[in-house]
Amino acid sequence: MVPLIDPFARAISYLRVSVTDRCDFRCTYCMSEHMTFLPKADLLSLEELDRLCTAFVRMGVQKLRITGGEPLVRKGILTFFEAMSRHLQSGALKELTLTTNGSQLAKFAEPLAALGVKRVNVSLDTLDPAKFTQITRWGRLPQVLDGIQAAKAAGLRVKINAVALKGFNEDELFSLLDWCAREDQDLTFIEVMPMGEDMGEGLRLDQYWPLKDLRARLSERFTLTDLAERSGGPARYVRVEETSQKLGFITPLTHNFCESCNRVRLTCTGELYMCLGQEDMADLRAPLRASPDDAVVEAAIRAAIARKPKGHDFDYTRQRVKGQMTRHMSHTGG
Ligand code: GTP
Ligand code: 5AD
Ligand code: SF4
Repeated sequence: MVPLIDPFARAISYLRVSVTDRCDFRCTYCMSEHMTFLPKADLLSLEELDRLCTAFVRMGVQKLRITGGEPLVRKGILTFFEAMSRHLQSGALKELTLTTNGSQLAKFAEPLAALGVKRVNVSLDTLDPAKFTQITRWGRLPQVLDGIQAAKAAGLRVKINAVALKGFNEDELFSLLDWCAREDQDLTFIEVMPMGEDMGEGLRLDQYWPLKDLRARLSERFTLTDLAERSGGPARYVRVEETSQKLGFITPLTHNFCESCNRVRLTCTGELYMCLGQEDMADLRAPLRASPDDAVVEAAIRAAIARKPKGHDFDYTRQRVKGQMTRHMSHTGG
């Protein structure tokens, strides 16, 4: 089958699938406290998700990342992982993984590992229990730490994703790094993006901590060597020579990585977002439900990829927020 190539000659090989918009946390930069969630009837069934993802795999997707909301709160989620694991077994899929808040890992780590998941990205912005509850509103740090231990006990490699927030976790830069070195976990910092309508401009700008500043601060104490290695996502990695650990930076604001974008996002209602930072999307649920013939949905996927934009327009320069998205991050899973 002809692979998926977008108008800027980028091959689309990475699909991020949000299997639910629900979450057991309410991180302040991701959701409002009182979110209205989608009615269950609007969701794609697990069978429909399987059919869509399988179409993408046939069309050249090699990396599948399951997200949410919190993916592990979707009922029957292991059935879906089991379905996707057949593409690992056939060799069509190189990686099946997930991004999670870690709250349910104690229960799910072992079955996920048994289904061929090799690593998980866990979102964690602070190691201080009170601050953790402040930023996640509903989260409890010990539960997540237990989940991370369970993941490692099950043989999963763990990467911690920390959103860099000025005045919030600035003072934890070295302690987070140190904790990850001790625990043999990778760590990636992410610049906070302007998503979600109730995030006032003031708040967003105040919280924005450019990763080049963070990097400069690290360089005062450590030797950082750029690595050519890529994990197939937007992170760029350095090695911290003194501790031999791998540290990632995701810098949508200070260094736009859109030119090498290889991914698209599918929501739990079957919307395909061709860019995290743009409004345009294609409805795949209608063609999926219109016909049992996969050719119909494949044509819709190709038509969508043909519209993939060059990149996002996020910009915080001149003390103003540009390119802000009203869509919440939980809608597309980041
Ligand atoms: P690896 O496979 O470990 O490289 O993962 P990844 O970085 O692709 O996935 P992860 O779920 O850890 O992504 C971390 C965060 O990076 C996401 O939640 C987003 O906040 C951000 N991110 C990922 N892809 C994009 C993208 O295409 N554009 C922008 N602006 N941000 C992205
Ligand atoms: N900016 C940057 N990252 C965000 N995430 C959620 N909202 C934002 C935002 N506004 C991150 C989470 C998690 C991933 C799914 O997306 O911390 O690591
Ligand atoms: Fe839930 Fe992740 Fe959003 Fe936090 S960032 S509310 S854990 S989906």
